[in-house]
Amino acid sequence: RFAAPSNRYCDANASDKMNPFAVNEAWEKHQSEKATLKFGSKDRKQSSDEYQFVFEEDPIKFIKATEVEQGLLSSISEVNTTSERLADDRKSLPIYQYKEKLLEVVKDNQVLIIVGETGSGKTTQIPQYLLEARYTRRGKIACTQPRRVAAMSIAARVARQMGVKLGHEVGYSIRFEDRTSDRTVLKYMTDGMLLRELQSEPDLASYSVVMVDEAHERSVSTDILFGLVKDIAMARPDLKLLISSATSDTEKFSEYFDSANIFTIPGRRYHVDIHYTETQVADYLAAAVDTALQIHVKLQPGDGDILVFLPGQDDIENAEEMLRLKTRGLGTKIPELIICPIYANLPTELQAKIFIPTPQGARKVVLATNIAETSLTINGIKYIIDPGYCKTKTYQPRTGMETLKVTPVSKASATQRAGRSGRTGPGECYRLYTRDIYNSMDENVEPEIKRTNLANVVLTLKSLGIEDIKNFDFMDPPPGETLTKALELLIALGALDEPGKLTKVGRRMAEFPLDPMLSKMIVASDEYKCSSELISIAAILSLGNSVFYRPKDKRKDAATARERFYMGNVGDHIALLNVYNSWKETDFSTQWCYENYIQVRSMKQARKVREQLEGLLKMAEIEVTSNANDLDIRMAIVSGCFRHTARLQKGGSYQTVESCRTVYIHPSSVLAQAPPRWVVYHELVETSREYMRQVTELKPEWLEKVAPHYYKLEDTEDCSSKKMPRAVGRACLN
Ligand code: CDP
Ligand code: MG
Repeated sequence: RFAAPSNRYCDANASDKMNPFAVNEAWEKHQSEKATLKFGSKDRKQSSDEYQFVFEEDPIKFIKATEVEQGLLSSISEVNTTSERLADDRKSLPIYQYKEKLLEVVKDNQVLIIVGETGSGKTTQIPQYLLEARYTRRGKIACTQPRRVAAMSIAARVARQMGVKLGHEVGYSIRFEDRTSDRTVLKYMTDGMLLRELQSEPDLASYSVVMVDEAHERSVSTDILFGLVKDIAMARPDLKLLISSATSDTEKFSEYFDSANIFTIPGRRYHVDIHYTETQVADYLAAAVDTALQIHVKLQPGDGDILVFLPGQDDIENAEEMLRLKTRGLGTKIPELIICPIYANLPTELQAKIFIPTPQGARKVVLATNIAETSLTINGIKYIIDPGYCKTKTYQPRTGMETLKVTPVSKASATQRAGRSGRTGPGECYRLYTRDIYNSMDENVEPEIKRTNLANVVLTLKSLGIEDIKNFDFMDPPPGETLTKALELLIALGALDEPGKLTKVGRRMAEFPLDPMLSKMIVASDEYKCSSELISIAAILSLGNSVFYRPKDKRKDAATARERFYMGNVGDHIALLNVYNSWKETDFSTQWCYENYIQVRSMKQARKVREQLEGLLKMAEIEVTSNANDLDIRMAIVSGCFRHTARLQKGGSYQTVESCRTVYIHPSSVLAQAPPRWVVYHELVETSREYMRQVTELKPEWLEKVAPHYYKLEDTEDCSSKKMPRAVGRACLN
């Protein structure tokens, strides 16, 4: 444990040394207080000054953190006195000095916890060191990441460092994409992919080392891996198990892994000045953009780049647009501002842009989600703007609804964010919240396993032969209600039998890396001879984002184009299938996508996913069959999502059969204009109301047919001759 006294570094205070670059007299005039940002302009008004900026009466004011607060950050680091600008050089990374020591400790310890600040070289270097030490003679080295983007980008970097082609000696494997080959020895993969590999190789026999990286993130898959690899390590003394983490809260990991030793890589860090706002900001997005611009106009020669943390893609896109608009008015005297967004869904070729060094005289502003908090390190960042929010998944077992909500970050996250600067010189972090808000934040984020739907995880565990899930060795056990719900769903789908044993259906479902309801649809499609159609639908649904493109200025044209796919108006699932099939008929034409307001990127992704699913059909012993009859296709769909049934109410709302909630058809649905009496839906999303998304019309009789154990048709109380399905399934689950 290294605790450097914080006051030692305070003399390197960056803002004290700030020598404002005279770009703008108006700006200079307003820059009276040190380290106080006074930009805050929402609109540019016409004015006489050269850059047409108007500083509003109410600028964002920041106050500096106290030394004690600064200490929070300094205590996890040591300052590096010999300036390191050669971050690209492997030898300049903090971990390099500890290479021999580390290899020695790995040799002597089967299980080792490794802690080191983000950017110290854990992810890119440790697997290479182990390769050099010839651990790969006995098997591959796996390094797991919670995030897909990190797995891809890090594998690419390591391949470059080793001078090999990506996919040869160094590769990556993420859901629906495998860039590895027979010669791959360093395999970067998502934690979820290693879980899947366990299904075919329960003892991980082809691996000599498993490094569970970014352990502090505590993703569900990482947590499950913990329990599994702990067992495997016991059975396989030759397997090395490394658990690496960016935070110092590692006692918990050590304790869980039977008091495993902890190896600490001391960080190197310059002082980072932290500033809070004096008052609460009303609009974090506008404040973030303004703060970024305000920093930018003060550009000094040799100054660093800006990193802004935003909760999600939508905010990032808006910020990008706002920055473009605002910098256009800045004139030519202000240096170029290169805007680089980064989020999980960004196409790979654009992701690489954040790593390109900033040309002299320009400045880069990186707009990132949490992904830049610990998974990816961007060199050359001097300024951090932290609005204090991130997107968090929450799950309510009662309603089965999983939502992504913008929530305040934890103190641990805020500290990590601030620490993204100060790596190559003194840094500054602007927190767009007050000190009081900081003090009220949670210490750490709750592990994902506590707030997510576990149906998929339970199915995976069952398929790995783990019967007693409730007594699985969880580091933090999930809520009992969540587990019960997951078991209930899997029993209802027929994946588990009443005592909870995996059935043949369950075994086939487990082949697909999909939500169990989607897997069930595919398995059911075998009976209805339409597996080809169902994997197209499942591929698109698994993307999670819309394939329809709705540019703001062409809403009407886009809507008209979209209606062409509504054939029969039976629902969104069939409409999505129509989109896929029409695109296929044009031989997957990009031009066709443009003409029909279809997101070409999403379609290409769906095509890739579909190919993978087609490969998996064989594994699940499902014949590839095609059938254009939409009744058959709908039966297969209902076989998977029969628990998501809702009935039309007076006034146009719906009531869910299972939990009697009032819900609505999402306005973007094919069925929004002509709501049928009965529907099944893919998911519920909560915005202004609870909306059903991806909705398909249903006849109540079908429910009894596809799920007789779950529904009984009963005479309705209103004496109409119609029969009503009633969910009886839950009664037999105790
Ligand atoms: O895992 P850890 O955070 O300890 O560090 P790392 O990911 O191994 O990163 C070591 C260095 O490689 C950092 O300075 C990163 O900036 C750099 N890096 C990069 O330039 N591009 C990547 N795609 C990944 C890492
Ligand atoms: Mg890392």
